[in-house]
Amino acid sequence: MSSSRTASVVPEPEPEPGPDSGPDSGSGPMPTTPAGRAPSRAGDRSRWRRLIDVVDERLGLDALRYPVPEHANNLAWSLGGLTAVSLLVLVATGIVLAQFYDPTPEVANASVRTIVQDVPLGRFIRSLHFWTAQTMYVLAALHLIRVFFHGSFKRPREANWLIGVSMFGLTLLAIFTGTVLKWDQEAYEALGHNLELGTLLGGAGFWFSSSFAEHTPILVRLYSAHIMLIPVLLFVLVVVHALLIRRHKISSHPALRDPGPRRTPDGDPDITPDLTPDLTSDLTSDLTSDMALPADETPKELSEPFTHHLRRVGALGLVLLGALTAVAVLFPPPVGSTPVAGVEVTKPLWPFWWMFTLENWFGLPAILWGGLVFFVLLFAVPFLDRSPRRSWRTRPVAMAVGALLVVLLIVLTLLMAFTTPAAHLSM
Ligand code: HEM
Repeated sequence: MSSSRTASVVPEPEPEPGPDSGPDSGSGPMPTTPAGRAPSRAGDRSRWRRLIDVVDERLGLDALRYPVPEHANNLAWSLGGLTAVSLLVLVATGIVLAQFYDPTPEVANASVRTIVQDVPLGRFIRSLHFWTAQTMYVLAALHLIRVFFHGSFKRPREANWLIGVSMFGLTLLAIFTGTVLKWDQEAYEALGHNLELGTLLGGAGFWFSSSFAEHTPILVRLYSAHIMLIPVLLFVLVVVHALLIRRHKISSHPALRDPGPRRTPDGDPDITPDLTPDLTSDLTSDLTSDMALPADETPKELSEPFTHHLRRVGALGLVLLGALTAVAVLFPPPVGSTPVAGVEVTKPLWPFWWMFTLENWFGLPAILWGGLVFFVLLFAVPFLDRSPRRSWRTRPVAMAVGALLVVLLIVLTLLMAFTTPAAHLSM
């Protein structure tokens, strides 16, 4: 069994029924059961297959059956896919919320109340949006940690790391702008921070100031960023991210032995050019010996069509959705009352707690500098850790710095429990 799971022993492909063979070919009578009926499961399967063939002929879906290594189905390697599932849930629930939400400051808070009290399933949809946003943040963070840990960001995948970090930053921005929308005390204080940070940024912070568009309240502009600018940017980046994964293939698992130089059957170094074909579009069966990864990442494991991986991520996504539904039903977020100007009494949503602690220690600019240092460090990862070594065992410095950063963030976040909101705004 184990030997059949190694690349050196790629299983023989199952013989595919040819155009003139098999029960569906039309060349012979359908096999029947004793009762004279065709076996229904085989019949359903072939009908399903024919439907797929019809769609595929028109849309070229077969291109999605390119090979991916089996380890891509591990939970850890599926975190990116689950982050994308969360984004889809946010867009779906967000579209429903947007039908009833009104960003005019005078009525914004009341419209959230209407969603919760009068719109059928409104409380649930809002709660699902709220919990999924935090889940997306956690999944994206875990995905980044996984990529860092396995060195999957290394050449030639540096650009995809930068895109991933950008999407993580956009998720944080979406949570921030979403929080402001509900227009309660927490939202108002968050907006106050937004305005003061905009001032600190000088000319670069012009978009964040109320004077940028005098006749359009900043709440309306943040709303447009929340439902259009940020999701569209996220989608563009998701598409580029996916295309780059397709181009570079899913990185091999560093725990699997490096293939080393290619050898001839006699054991001599193989100096002939590597012409490993990419026969993606020619895949006709589930497992074929054509499923080759790039020569530098010869697999020590089986590969399977990407569509199978998609199915597994879909199944995991359904489990995630089930869990989120339960949490959304059990713990709907409250709607705070309309804001009072001139006081600072709230704490932000937990993804911002580490900044909150820094702000308490060093004042409001610490949010800006802390956030900047954090993201500059993340963006710099592929430029700092450039060796081709990918296993964590061979990268002690990178592992130590990464672990230190994660521990620091967790400690700063937990310290928030002992931090009382203080006045930082000059408004
Ligand atoms: C990109 C991912 C998104 C994230 C991370 C996100 C996050 C959030 C958060 C944290 C809230 C505040 C929830 C609360 O405390 O009540 C919120 C509110 C809201 N979001 Fe999103 N959102 C996203 C995408 C969208 C999209 C695509 C739309 C619309 C098409 C949308 C529409 C809304 C609306 C209308 C509200 C205000 C209602 C409320 O506060 O419950 N969101 N969002």
